[in-house]
Amino acid sequence: MERVIKITDDIFYVGVNDRETHLFEGLWPLPKGVSYNSYLIRDEKNVLIDTVKILKSDLFIQKIKEVINGDSLDYLVINHMEPDHSGSISAIINAFPNIKIIGNKKTFEFLKNLYGIEKNLLEVKDGDEISLGKHKLKFYMTPMVHWPETMVTYELTEKIAFTGDAFGGFGTLDGGIFDDEVDIEYYKNEIRRYYSNIVGKFGPMVQKALQKLSNLEIKVIASTHGPVWRSHPELIIDLYDKWSRYEAEEGVVVVYGSMYGNTEKMADYLANILAKYGIKNIRVMNAANVHESFIINEIWRFKGVIIGTCTYNNGIFPPIENLLINLAHKGLKNRIFGVFGTYGWSGGGVKGVVEYLNKNNWELVCEPCEVKFSPKPEDLEKLEEMAKCFSEKIK
Ligand code: FEO
Repeated sequence: MERVIKITDDIFYVGVNDRETHLFEGLWPLPKGVSYNSYLIRDEKNVLIDTVKILKSDLFIQKIKEVINGDSLDYLVINHMEPDHSGSISAIINAFPNIKIIGNKKTFEFLKNLYGIEKNLLEVKDGDEISLGKHKLKFYMTPMVHWPETMVTYELTEKIAFTGDAFGGFGTLDGGIFDDEVDIEYYKNEIRRYYSNIVGKFGPMVQKALQKLSNLEIKVIASTHGPVWRSHPELIIDLYDKWSRYEAEEGVVVVYGSMYGNTEKMADYLANILAKYGIKNIRVMNAANVHESFIINEIWRFKGVIIGTCTYNNGIFPPIENLLINLAHKGLKNRIFGVFGTYGWSGGGVKGVVEYLNKNNWELVCEPCEVKFSPKPEDLEKLEEMAKCFSEKIK
């Protein structure tokens, strides 16, 4: 039994942890699980903000009943309709048949199409306010952070922003829920992974949302995933600002695909030379073994990306091609690229990667290095040259 946690005297955390789902959105691995955060405001009108994935409905409703203790639940605010947050709406309506649902026009379009729900709706527009008694909610439309209907609900009395996916991350809340009660370094990596995997494509829309919220005094950021930021909300706002502007730290991700170990040898050699030239943050990742979710996360962090591929059916090795497709989906910008690889007779791997970079306007900064079957001393010289050139561009 998880405990119900107070954010303030009248505002409660009623979210749940999920350590059962393997793949978020059926795609992104969850080795550390994920939390679905929901919040309840007690006042003359009791309000629930967002729900949780359907598989946790029973526990969720039990927690709500414990907080309202026989009183009515008057409103449900839906900040975001993706089913990890909307999945328990029907269960909430069953448990509290008189509840009124607050959302925007798009929310209600999705609500009808996903769940067939059309009754007891209260539509709000950008800047609208609703009084609950002591507390007052104001709604800010933040489209595409992460779906078109997404909005932020700001509580004016206690200055809490309920932000939906924005500022959230993977990882269950193991014990504490607040930024000052948990090992925030542990969560930071999972928050960047969530950002880069789920929201990353929408950088310009995140910038618009940050701009819109910039005049608010925000004491607490209560997202739908991961820690609640009550001590240092400015830290997560700053990180979001950097990530959505595609800013990066000094460092290089060397990601490769290798069938017989020759492209891998080149990857390790490059990494050693990069280190010799003073690059400390180096990640060497095998695209065939490491899920692209984790590779994208590292690429979101660091400035340099060096792609290595063997040639497969006259083209790019499939796990590398898949990674490139995904990076293009995310609209990656402001990175510098290098390319290396191997071929046996006809070639095509390195050429394919270079074509991909050109197509996406990704900057290739050093001469690619392609070798026949396995690297010879003269190839290692070329790699040395490439690592030297790359380290100069990174610094
Ligand atoms: Fe956490 Fe876009 O759902």
